Amino acid sequence: MSEFVTLFEMGPRDGLQNEKTFVPTEKKIELVDMLSACGFRKIEVTSFVSPKWVPQMADAGDVMDGIYRHPAVVYSVLTPNVKGYTAARRASADEVAIFGSASEGFSKKNINCSVAESIERFKPLLEKAAEDAMPVRGYVSCVTDCPYDGPTPPDKVAEVAGSLLELGCYEISLGDTIGAAVPETLAPMLDAVLSVVPAAKLAGHYHDTKGRALDNIELSLERGLRTFDSAIGGLGGCPYAPGAKGNVATEAVVDLMQRKGFDTGLNATQLLEAASFAKSLRSAPQ
Ligand code: HMG
Ligand code: MG
Repeated sequence: MSEFVTLFEMGPRDGLQNEKTFVPTEKKIELVDMLSACGFRKIEVTSFVSPKWVPQMADAGDVMDGIYRHPAVVYSVLTPNVKGYTAARRASADEVAIFGSASEGFSKKNINCSVAESIERFKPLLEKAAEDAMPVRGYVSCVTDCPYDGPTPPDKVAEVAGSLLELGCYEISLGDTIGAAVPETLAPMLDAVLSVVPAAKLAGHYHDTKGRALDNIELSLERGLRTFDSAIGGLGGCPYAPGAKGNVATEAVVDLMQRKGFDTGLNATQLLEAASFAKSLRSAPQ
């Protein structure tokens, strides 16, 4: 039997958050429902963040209320603080994700605090999540490059990843937020992180700006990672990371996994239908 690789679907959240024109709530719901039918085990549906910061995600509660809950799917949401966590609980999210950065510049622009302050801000959220037995995933952004600070030192990524693990995150997703990583810069970062977090608790979250995301996934597979974040149709970008393109396209990762003999449990035909629908939600070609 082939080894399983988990693809954590990011399209409805990372994929749509940067769209300039508001995507109607019912279209977002339709996208999530199509993705649920594809065989994903994990879908990041939306973000409970400040609507002033990310207006596209202002309908998070309505999207969560409207989606069909496939029993085999974990429906996850982003939560930057306790306010977001409380709203996520109210919306019956199965899992939440906190998001920190390995670079000070991006942390300040994205969540309006320093890296150290973000860790302090996450603590009460993790405490509440522990009381509720709510799984928490942790992102570390800018793992090789920051749009504000330049190259990120691998030791800093390891430090932040270690802190998030210590706080109680069950998995750390390593974000190449602006898609600038290449295998030569990814390798030292992965080696540094793997000295503090085992591969089984890591995920690769690679954007595809330089067209190297698949190479970065291949390298990560060699280092033992078996979870990757991707977005249907290659949707995406981050409003606070200028130049960031979409996450690597889910359908391209599925092709790669098939070629390398890994099982993803995803239905290729339904994926292509979902990819075509996802691309139709873009306000302008990117
Ligand atoms: P702040 O302005 O410092 O926060 O923002 P605040 O606590 O002073 O609150 C300001 C206002 O926001 C208040 O409202 C709060 O109630 C409200 P007002 O009194 O002015 O009317 N507020 C909220 N509203 C709804 N939900 C909440 C919430 N929290 C406060 N949870 C804050 C700090 C973190 C809130 C803000 O910076 C924010 O929302 N940032 C989110 C930015 C974001 O979503 N970025 C994209 C996701 S990260 C990403 O894409 C990277 C990733 O994909 C990995 C990778 O690629 O590397 C994950
Ligand atoms: Mg991202």
